[in-house]
Amino acid sequence: MKKDKFIIQSLDGQKKLSGEVKISGAKNAVLPIMASSVLFEDNFLMTNVPEIEDLNRMTEIFAGLGIKINKQSQGEYFIDPHGLNKFEIDEETSKRLRASVIFTGPLLARFGELIFPHPGGCVIGARPIDLFLDGFQKMGAKVQVRDDKYFVTAKDKKLQGANIFFKVQSVTATETFIMAGVLAEGETILKNVAMEPEIVSLVDFLNSCGANITGAGTPTIRIMGGNLLKSDGKVYQTIPDRIETGSFLILGALCAENLRVSNCEPKHLGILIELLKDSGVEIEVGQDYLNIINNKKQNSEFKSVSIKTHEYPGFPTDLQAPFVVYLTQVTGESLVFETIFEGRLNYTDNLKMMGADIKMWDAHRATIKGPNVLKGRELDGPDIRTGFAFVIAALIAKGESIINNVYYIDRGYENVEEKLRQLGVDIKRIN
Ligand code: EPU
Repeated sequence: MKKDKFIIQSLDGQKKLSGEVKISGAKNAVLPIMASSVLFEDNFLMTNVPEIEDLNRMTEIFAGLGIKINKQSQGEYFIDPHGLNKFEIDEETSKRLRASVIFTGPLLARFGELIFPHPGGCVIGARPIDLFLDGFQKMGAKVQVRDDKYFVTAKDKKLQGANIFFKVQSVTATETFIMAGVLAEGETILKNVAMEPEIVSLVDFLNSCGANITGAGTPTIRIMGGNLLKSDGKVYQTIPDRIETGSFLILGALCAENLRVSNCEPKHLGILIELLKDSGVEIEVGQDYLNIINNKKQNSEFKSVSIKTHEYPGFPTDLQAPFVVYLTQVTGESLVFETIFEGRLNYTDNLKMMGADIKMWDAHRATIKGPNVLKGRELDGPDIRTGFAFVIAALIAKGESIINNVYYIDRGYENVEEKLRQLGVDIKRIN
């Protein structure tokens, strides 16, 4: 793992940043699309693919399975599943990338067998896989655990369509069972599924290549099983990353007088836009851009708003950390209720050491009183989104800050320091 650091200079409390940031393709859309190649008999092209570390991890998993991925040009990749010949997910990669679990459904559906280790990923909570194991069993597979690995075998090597009711809404479980259903015998009905835009985008692509899936974007999805899919030259165009969009919008509200966030999909961020407007930030919402214009107010003139993280279209847990940094600068007390992951407020200790007034009530709830002047310091980001939140904290804090573990930011944000520099941020990467 690379051990890069960022050194970031403060903006001295002024809204010095300005310009345009172009949003990249969505990490969490491209990862399931890559996994879906297991369901295909031919190759397909993906465009607007973000050049991020998680893409490299996925490529390692592909190499282990026999799938080829060829870069055509910046952001354009061909995926060729002709050589697919294994149904075991690599242990090392899987530990570093929770999203590797998306492969389980399509591999089991294609081979009738699957071996995989318990997946790792960011340090944001327990991240169990019970929904996956329960679902495979409902589809007629047997699950055994040996040497810290799961061995899953479908009856007669063929998954059966099933009725699966998820106890909690899970993005990757929804995606993996959609893909499992595509090659299963008969109909699969998934209830209480996640409704994130990345799921709708996956389903649209699979349907355009011969799948029969209805209900994406609603709580119930039906999949009629069939044969391998065929792209026949269809191209997957990655949707814009709504979390990157939201991250820059929050940064802009605190640090920029004028900021244009372009190449984005504002309708995927309704809740954030609404809350920032409530708090006093003026945002112009376009078809594919968001503008913060003439943002001359002091941050202390913005008022506190409370948030509760929620499955889409609620407030995304992935924007909770950047938003907490925002809340340290506005006037009043806000309650932040993190309902998705139990470890996802732990980073607030770092903000407290910078001078923020934050009280944790339990693992899920914190109150933030603002505004407070933060002091720059050395920070260790424990996950992708906290990494970006610390970049914002460094900009609003007094003095210089060092952010360690830049690897995490690189996992999810394409070209981050270039994008920041173009807005006027003084940022250096140290290897
Ligand atoms: N859960 C279970 N059992 C399971 C699976 C999940 O109880 O078998 C629980 C989790 O513990 C959590 C809840 O379900 O409390 C929701 O988690 P989910 O499964 O939806 O998370 P995920 O699919 O692993 C995706 C994103 C995350 C994002 C979450 C929540 C991808 C590749 N990852 O993870 O993205 O935080 O949904 O929206 O799509 C990120 O991009 O930085 C990131 C962490």
